[in-house]
Amino acid sequence: MTINHAASIGDLAKLARWRIPGFAFGFLDGGSGEEGGLRRNRERLEAAVLAPKACTGAKPDTTASLFGRDYALPFGAAPVGMGNLLWPGADLMVARQAARLGFPVVASTVATTALEDIAAAAEGHAWFQLYVSREERINRDLLARAWAAGIRELVITVDVPVAGDRRRDVRNRFILPFKPGPRFVAQVAMAPLWALSTLRAGSPGFPNLTRYVGEVDGKTLAGFISSQIKDDLAWDDVRALRDLWQGRLLIKGIMTAADARTALDLGADGIWVSNHGGRQLDAAPAAIDSLAAIRAALGKEAVILMDGSIRSGEDVVRAGATGADFVFCGRAFYYGAAAAGEGGAARAADLLAADVRRTLTQIGCPSWMGLDEGWLWKESGCRP
Ligand SMILES: Cc1cc2nc3c(=O)[nH]c(=O)nc-3n(C[C@H](O)[C@H](O)[C@H](O)COP(=O)(O)O)c2cc1C
Repeated sequence: MTINHAASIGDLAKLARWRIPGFAFGFLDGGSGEEGGLRRNRERLEAAVLAPKACTGAKPDTTASLFGRDYALPFGAAPVGMGNLLWPGADLMVARQAARLGFPVVASTVATTALEDIAAAAEGHAWFQLYVSREERINRDLLARAWAAGIRELVITVDVPVAGDRRRDVRNRFILPFKPGPRFVAQVAMAPLWALSTLRAGSPGFPNLTRYVGEVDGKTLAGFISSQIKDDLAWDDVRALRDLWQGRLLIKGIMTAADARTALDLGADGIWVSNHGGRQLDAAPAAIDSLAAIRAALGKEAVILMDGSIRSGEDVVRAGATGADFVFCGRAFYYGAAAAGEGGAARAADLLAADVRRTLTQIGCPSWMGLDEGWLWKESGCRP
């Protein structure tokens, strides 16, 4: 299969599996625990069946208005840490798709590309995701840098009080501190193009954070990162960051209506329903079920974003009909970049965009902004 014959995000994932080492693919593709959360995300999303309306003559408008801005498409690229491990330069490849097609890309605190570089490549479409540090000076500085880079949307991730139980990483020996043993060498040998490209580009680091620890080797920095993420994050910390940030604030990793209300009450502009793509709490509810429950509890006015196992434009529309104002994809773009570099990232974005248009047309919906639960099949388990 070549990249132009990849007909779905799943096809890109298959290509990626053969092109990159097992530990890198496992890191991207895997979930936590026995991956029940990952499976549940997918199964419940597929249960959100759409009810098409015939003969509406609709020529859909995919524009999504969010916080006074119009995005050409109703989906964006979720924050992904260690992205350049999956393919050298992957973060910028994804950021350039955001600029090309007009959707947001969220630069992660632990991205392997500096937030300033992602912002430049995304040409005004970058947001920033913060893992709250124990050290206030680091939080302050990261927010000041994001603002100076022209970023106006801040996403605070609240579902990583501790790293998830990633069993694929353990089995693939992809654990910190990283010690390349025979199994690692064998995995790299099976992926010669990745090995060569990674050798040429240099091993990926954490450029958003290096300045706070000076020039240190990767091992120390990895230890630094896990020791820095605030593991006792409380709503008061979020409130303090709200006071610090003048732009829009989103809280990512919300799964219950009670937490959604708390986040909005303390001044968040929107909430991002997510179980981290099944990578944190294995027993978490499916993202689409949380979305339905939270939309039902909060009503029409609240701004609700969502992610988790979105693999097609049809999935984006399922989430929209269930109550999402905007939808994000994490793995999809990186399967593309790992499968075929820039062309693969572009293929992923184009597949998603074309499928959103096709699906809205097929269900007879004139616009993303007009999509609501009226397009959900009434027996659908995910009805808000
Ligand atoms: C490899 C990888 C790295 C991730 N890194 C981050 C991160 O640094 N910050 C964050 O908030 N979420 C991170 N996530 C979670 C995504 O932002 C998103 O919630 C999740 O991937 C959505 O599910 P999907 O990949 O099935 O689309 C990561 C996900 C993956 C797959």
